[in-house]
Amino acid sequence: MCACPDFHLLCVVAARPNLMKMAPILAALERQAPTVRVTLLHTGQHYDPAMSGQVFTALGMRAPDISLDVGSGSHAQQTAEIMRRYEAVHLAMQPALDAVMVVGDVNSTLACALVAAKLGTPVIHVEAGLRSGDRSMPEEINRLLTDQLSGLLLTSESGAQANLLREGIAGERIRFVGNVMIDSLLLQLPRAISPENTLQNYGHPCPPAYGLLTLHRPSNVDDGGRLSALLLAMVQLSRQLPLLFPIHPRTLSMLRQTGLENLFEQHAIVPLPPLGYLEMLGLMQGARLVLTDSGGIQEETTALGVPCLTLRDNTERPVTVDEGTNTVAGTAPETILTLAHNILETGGKRGRIPEYWDGHAAGRVADATLQWLSQRRGVQ
Ligand code: UD1
Repeated sequence: MCACPDFHLLCVVAARPNLMKMAPILAALERQAPTVRVTLLHTGQHYDPAMSGQVFTALGMRAPDISLDVGSGSHAQQTAEIMRRYEAVHLAMQPALDAVMVVGDVNSTLACALVAAKLGTPVIHVEAGLRSGDRSMPEEINRLLTDQLSGLLLTSESGAQANLLREGIAGERIRFVGNVMIDSLLLQLPRAISPENTLQNYGHPCPPAYGLLTLHRPSNVDDGGRLSALLLAMVQLSRQLPLLFPIHPRTLSMLRQTGLENLFEQHAIVPLPPLGYLEMLGLMQGARLVLTDSGGIQEETTALGVPCLTLRDNTERPVTVDEGTNTVAGTAPETILTLAHNILETGGKRGRIPEYWDGHAAGRVADATLQWLSQRRGVQ
């Protein structure tokens, strides 16, 4: 007779980058922890097909069991609405729920962790302990608070543990598992869509060499002046290297408001809609240089060995700078252009693959989760 306990885990996804993190975890739990029953909940923070449904398909991820359909709003509105809707779901499931797993640092991560913790359900945080030190970033607030609320903290890079210990989190609650986003990258890379095909699909010829640009941080795109200064620097760079620019919905709305959308026609900047994951992998892999303010793209370029300039003043992912191909460039146009020209001349930093970015991080998440759930239940 099997003495295996039957655990029930609720996994939360919300925004596009959560999906690349959760997909390999779901697969690993299914493979390695069949006694863990998983319910998948999507808060609906991202809802456009390109930001949500199409990503599920590209990753071969099963559809969510529960959708909250919260949509957009101010931080307070969005966070509160997620909490309100999620609490009802959680209460209905609670007697049978052993833990809630959240990933990353988006508003839904914190909102669901807060509800679960207050209702006495343990929280597992995947990608714990990343810190930019910049509390003006909404994600930094989400990271700090989610980690304080979590019972099991699973980290993606070696420095994260020290951040957590410094904040008073007990070492026995922390496990270094590696980067689950790189699991998805390594698994899906053979299916990446070639840059030629992607550009053809959107009606553009593919330049022989190109840079890839993404911008969506509120600090860069919500202020028209800052966005305009960054784009003027990109116009200058595009004279040397054509730039492909998949535009996030947040950024598009500011480009429309300011009329900056018209800038691209006269310059070698190719505006594109938000792209599918396999399209994006192909474009990153083929780029001479990536310029971004995304967190995940700093990691993906390090894994691919492609030079990356982070258009922010700091990063919560320092391993991409210390060991990978990333340079924190700031947002001053002259500095960005100097660094970009240097990369075009020299090929940029070589970098190496950080520890545990090996395609097996989700397996370690599944092992750590099962072990922790068993210990909590007193099963050895
Ligand atoms: C969110 C995360 C950010 C993450 C990013 C990935 C927070 C605080 N921010 O930022 O950490 O890097 O996702 O993309 O959680 N919108 C759409 N369609 C969508 C989703 C959003 O049009 O499917 C538009 C709406 O106008 C919305 C705006 O984008 O107001 C911002 O969306 P939101 O989810 O609030 O934040 P992101 O900028 O996407």
